Parts: sequence; C-alpha cells; structure tokens
Amino acid sequence: MSGNLIYLDNAATSFPKPREVLKKMLKTYVRSGVSPGRGSYDLADEAAELVYQTRRKLTRFFSASDPERVIFTANATDALNIALQGLLRPGDHVVSTRLEHNSVLRPLYHLEKQGMIEYDLVCFDDSGYICPQQIMKAVKHNTKLVVVSHASNVLGTVQPAKEIARLCSEHGIPLLLDAAQSAGHIPIDMHSWGIGALAFTGHKALLGPTGIGGLILSPGLDIRTTRFGGTGIESRSLIHTQSFPHRLEAGTLNLAGILGLSASLDYLEQKNYEHLWQREMALTQRLYDGLRSISKVVFLSPPPTKQSVPVLTCAMKDMDSGDVGDILDGDYGIAVRIGLHCAPLVHVDLGTDASGAIRFSPGPFNTDKDIDFAVAAMAEIAAHS
Ligand code: ALA
Repeated sequence: MSGNLIYLDNAATSFPKPREVLKKMLKTYVRSGVSPGRGSYDLADEAAELVYQTRRKLTRFFSASDPERVIFTANATDALNIALQGLLRPGDHVVSTRLEHNSVLRPLYHLEKQGMIEYDLVCFDDSGYICPQQIMKAVKHNTKLVVVSHASNVLGTVQPAKEIARLCSEHGIPLLLDAAQSAGHIPIDMHSWGIGALAFTGHKALLGPTGIGGLILSPGLDIRTTRFGGTGIESRSLIHTQSFPHRLEAGTLNLAGILGLSASLDYLEQKNYEHLWQREMALTQRLYDGLRSISKVVFLSPPPTKQSVPVLTCAMKDMDSGDVGDILDGDYGIAVRIGLHCAPLVHVDLGTDASGAIRFSPGPFNTDKDIDFAVAAMAEIAAHS
C-alpha cells in the first residue's frame, strides 16, 4: 500500500497542476492583479493587455480566427449555456448525442420545457462512436445547431469532429463542439475544420486552474447576449454593448484564472502537449492491459487507441461501483470517479445507470508504478468480493 494519494481522476480536473503554472500565475497576479479594462492607470492597462495576450494565445492554440471572439467563461458548462441560450431562437431544432454531459443535456431539456426548442439525440455505436451520417439523418428543416462532445468523459472515445463539422457546413448548420475533455490533449483546428463554436474548460487537460474556460466563436456567427452588466465601455447606455468580446462578458473578469490559463498554455507549448497526451495514452493502455486480466472487470470503454483520451471506465461484477471507489480510496489511497459521471444517458444505454461505474483517468504526473498499483488493488478487490 502507498502512503501517498494516487490521483486517477484527471478527467474531473487535472491534479496536481504543474508548479511552473502556479508560480507564474501567482507572480503575474501579485504584480498586476487589478481590474482589467476598467481603470485609466497604467496597471489597469497592463492587466488588460495580459487578458488580450491570453485571448491571442487561445486563438493560436485552437487555430481560431479572431481574438475578439474568444469569450472568457467560468468553465465549459458556462460556455455551453451562453452558446445554447444565445444561438437558439423559438422554433429551432437541435441535433445532439446520447454521449453528452449534463452540461448540454440539461440546457437543451430546459429550453425544450420552456417551449423554445426541440431536439433529437443520436445514439452511439457499440464502441462508443457517433456516426456523422446519423447526425445528418437527424437534421430537419428547422435544425439550427448541432452540438457534440468531442471526447466522451465516460468512454474516452473521440468523435470525428472534423468530418461532423464538414457535413454541418455543407448543410449550413453551425457545429458547437464541447471540447471539455479534449482541449489540451487533441489538436483542434477550428478554422480549417469549420467549427462554428468551441466550448472548453481550462482546468482539465489544459492544466490551468478551476473557474476559467471559454467560448470561441467563428467569424460571422450571430449570438444574442443573455447576461447584461458592466463591461467598462459604452457605460452611458443601458443597452449592453454588442461589440465582441464584451457582448458575452459582463462583470469583472476572472483575472487570476486567465493568468493561470495563460501560464498553462505556455507550459503545454513548451512540453509539447501532444507528447503529454501520448504518454497518458500509454498509461491508459497499460491500465487496460492490466485490468483485462481480472475476470470480474467489465469494461464500458472500448480498448484505448492513440486517438482516444486518457479515460477508462469499467465495472466490477457483483459489486456496486461506489463500494469499489470507497475501497480504492480508503484502503489503497487511489482517487477515481465513480457513479454516472454527469453523463446519465451513456450509462442508461450501457445498462449501468443503477450501479454506476468506476472511471480511471491518468494525468501527466502519473507513472507506470501508479498504474500497476491500481491494477493490483483492483485484483485484490475482485479476489475478496
Ligand atoms: N465533467 C467532469 C467529469 O467528467 C466533472 O468528471
């Protein structure tokens, strides 16, 4: 048994954060932590410039077109809510999938209950993938948006976003891509793929702090303001400014979070984030190979591939996943996420909605030893169940 925590819940949030990120974030915040874009003094200008630099870094990172269309949000859920409520109008139809997180399912459900929209959810296949043609089959005359989670937070599968975006563009329908689980692992090229809007969070594979995320919009995508307030510009008018990015940002920005995200983007660039991703996939593969030898382990995730994200979900025959999670934590010091992972329809379709499942998600600081220890723990739990 290890006296130290073995953290395998990086799909919930990456932990620990790189020291370099925390140090740089603190240093910049101590030096320039004033209200960006509000005051007329030099330090306020400096803070505003740091915010703008981060918009530019994000534009480059996601190959987007315009830093003014990088909107800072609290997280991916916030970004998805802003997008869904701002893009959809009464009578619109939306196509999404049964792989979605509640961050999409709930806004869609509530918009439907309000009598605003209707929507259809496309099923995933036996391996956890969405067929782009199935999405197109669900399109109706009034379909105004397609929303897809790029990577499943339960299965680790990655959807063919480029192909889905291409088909959506052919139909003149914007694709809203939920990149909560993919941003920071998988290179995303918003411009050349033709993605209409991208929602991401900063605290998962982007390795930034919690409380910061974003919505990036393609040029020309029309979106209404759904929150109103101070922006530091056009203050005489009661009408919320329509200029970007302020149209969708009301109130003082999360400067500490933005500076943290800026530092984490530098870190990812310096480390070559695709290498980090592939290292995490090698750990996921090792975990899969180890767990496969335990006859009581039943996988929900398909076998990982180099194109998956580092998420592996399974169940233990004849045991409640909550009990397995408690033993992993209490007896072995291993942190995993159990339950429904806020993506209930995946579990309904796989028959685990009553018992839940056990999700392992390695991160950049895990080692082979951590994985072997987790496999050995699962083998002991299985042997004693
Ligand atoms: N959506 C996050 C997860 O999958 C919190 O754990």
